[in-house]
Amino acid sequence: MIADDLKRLAEEVSLCHRCTLRNTARGVVFGEGAPTSRIVFCGEGPGAEEDRLLRPFVGAAGQLLDKMLAAMGLDRNHNAYILNAVKCRPPGNRVPLPEELMQCRPHLDAQIALLRPAIIVLLGTTAIQTFLGPKARVTRIHGTWHRQQDLWLMPTYHPAALLRNPQWKIAAWSDLKQVIDKYREIVDPDHVAAHYPKPSTS
Ligand code: URA
Repeated sequence: MIADDLKRLAEEVSLCHRCTLRNTARGVVFGEGAPTSRIVFCGEGPGAEEDRLLRPFVGAAGQLLDKMLAAMGLDRNHNAYILNAVKCRPPGNRVPLPEELMQCRPHLDAQIALLRPAIIVLLGTTAIQTFLGPKARVTRIHGTWHRQQDLWLMPTYHPAALLRNPQWKIAAWSDLKQVIDKYREIVDPDHVAAHYPKPSTS
């Protein structure tokens, strides 16, 4: 079962010392959500609150992410999975170094291989560059679909960036509406999103 396989992987990753982030972090923040969910949200790396509770997106940015998910008819306990490009908190919340991202990549790949999502929403530059390369810029490519094997990737703004720049929220919601459209197209045609109803066919 996927849940058991994820649990085993989480145990394995919890022992990781591939990079030095583990020396300063309290622990590994593996990720959480519905194991059979077809949609994954990928952030950058744990912050202080995430490191304290060993859960992804539980601080201020996480609260906004939960609201974004709710507007999309999604929720981390039922139909979405949340993870980060690096699993340990970079000291002082600095951006993870390329070396740290590289060392953590096998964990991310193993997670994705088990979850087999249809869609990954890439939250902010670090997640975007992890999947789309170092030249990718959120301001230029948010809202555009990228296809990698069976995956649909949608780059958008990181919720922490939206807290700092609320004027970007309109663009972010437009990106997320495209995600709901794709989710209805390839995962669940009857998906209900309170803030983005399906066009009526009658
Ligand atoms: N920011 C991230 O990118 N990930 C978290 O888990 C929390 C804040």
